[in-house]
Amino acid sequence: MQAIRIHAFSSSMDNLVIEEVPKPVPAPGEVLVKVLYAPVNPSDFNFIRGDYDSALSRVLWNRDRSPLAFDPAGLNPHPEPPYTIGGEGVGIVEAAGGGALANRLIGKHVAFASGPPRGSWAQYTSIDARKVFAVPDGIDTQQAAMYIFNPLSCYAMVLDVLGVQRGSWLLQSGAGSALGQMVVRLGRQRGFRTINIVRSEANIEKLRALGADVVINTSEQDLREEVFKATGGSGVDYAMDCVGGDLLTQMMQCMGLNGHMVVYGTLSGLSNTFFSRDLMMPCAKVSGFFAGNWLAQKSLWQKLSTVRALKKLHLAGVFRTDIDRVLPLQDVGEAIRLASTQGHQGKVLLACQESEVGP
Ligand SMILES: NC(=O)c1ccc[n+]([C@@H]2O[C@H](COP(=O)([O-])OP(=O)(O)OC[C@H]3O[C@@H](n4cnc5c(N)ncnc54)[C@H](OP(=O)(O)O)[C@@H]3O)[C@@H](O)[C@H]2O)c1
Repeated sequence: MQAIRIHAFSSSMDNLVIEEVPKPVPAPGEVLVKVLYAPVNPSDFNFIRGDYDSALSRVLWNRDRSPLAFDPAGLNPHPEPPYTIGGEGVGIVEAAGGGALANRLIGKHVAFASGPPRGSWAQYTSIDARKVFAVPDGIDTQQAAMYIFNPLSCYAMVLDVLGVQRGSWLLQSGAGSALGQMVVRLGRQRGFRTINIVRSEANIEKLRALGADVVINTSEQDLREEVFKATGGSGVDYAMDCVGGDLLTQMMQCMGLNGHMVVYGTLSGLSNTFFSRDLMMPCAKVSGFFAGNWLAQKSLWQKLSTVRALKKLHLAGVFRTDIDRVLPLQDVGEAIRLASTQGHQGKVLLACQESEVGP
């Protein structure tokens, strides 16, 4: 079978190769998934460039540890190349390695979150049956390829980490992203107001149509000035940043009393400096978020109730994701180019079976 793999990290993305590799054999408790579609997500770039690896090498729990791990207990190691790329996808369970749960899934359409070393940018993957979700009736197959990462992160950050209250103000960067649009829809549904930061005209009308209360284009407008006007000078209650760099510093200066910001992405690739008093004066706080570590700390009951809540929000259309293009696995270079183009509208999906490539 074919898989998109890397043998070493590279910031130019020229390290991706299409390789012929053996079809995986599912172990007990695992399922073999024939992958139909897999999205190109920013987190995939982190696995290609080695960004997670370099961040994890600075985490104290990884001192003197090899391989590096995402978690202190070392239960979730960062794989070392060579590995197959792709964090999530949708497919059909073709076989099971044994076990009641795995056997029950045979023949079903499932959404799954896998990630390297056994990524989703491949014709087949094998995965722990507990990590796949039968696609609910009413969810389109291509949408199901993006069923997990962004919806789970949106839900977790807004409702759990920040606990956003009805009537409050939430400021977010990267608002034109798939996740940013989910936050706007969730705001309409839950009754909180959103101030949305974009860097170009392309996303402004789309966000307004979704129900964004305020959209600020930081290429043309002054962020602090616009947030001052929108909030009547009080600043925002909550903020979510996935860009970093100087924008994060400016967002900190928009916080209201007891404001809470969550940082969850580094799209600019820039680190930032801030003056401690920007946090001290409003008694504000900043939290970091990484979906895998958030989920790992939840009880079984909390995980099940999260799965139920996500399904409801999916069916209500809150987590819909615009799709820009569907390209065959072999066109991965073009898929990456499109997904990295400023102002592109919607996700790029890789069609992992020839039969799934549209006209
Ligand atoms: N921490 C976690 O566990 C977790 C989980 C899920 C997602 N995330 C993060 O969430 C973010 C959004 O993911 P997504 O899948 O929704 O993204 P996406 O749909 O692929 O969209 C990417 C967006 O980022 C914007 N962008 C890219 N580079 C930028 C820069 N230098 N400055 C400002 N904006 C920039 C783009 O703006 P234009 O439209 O102007 O090009 C685009 O709107 C990513 O950072 C991702 O890694 C984190």
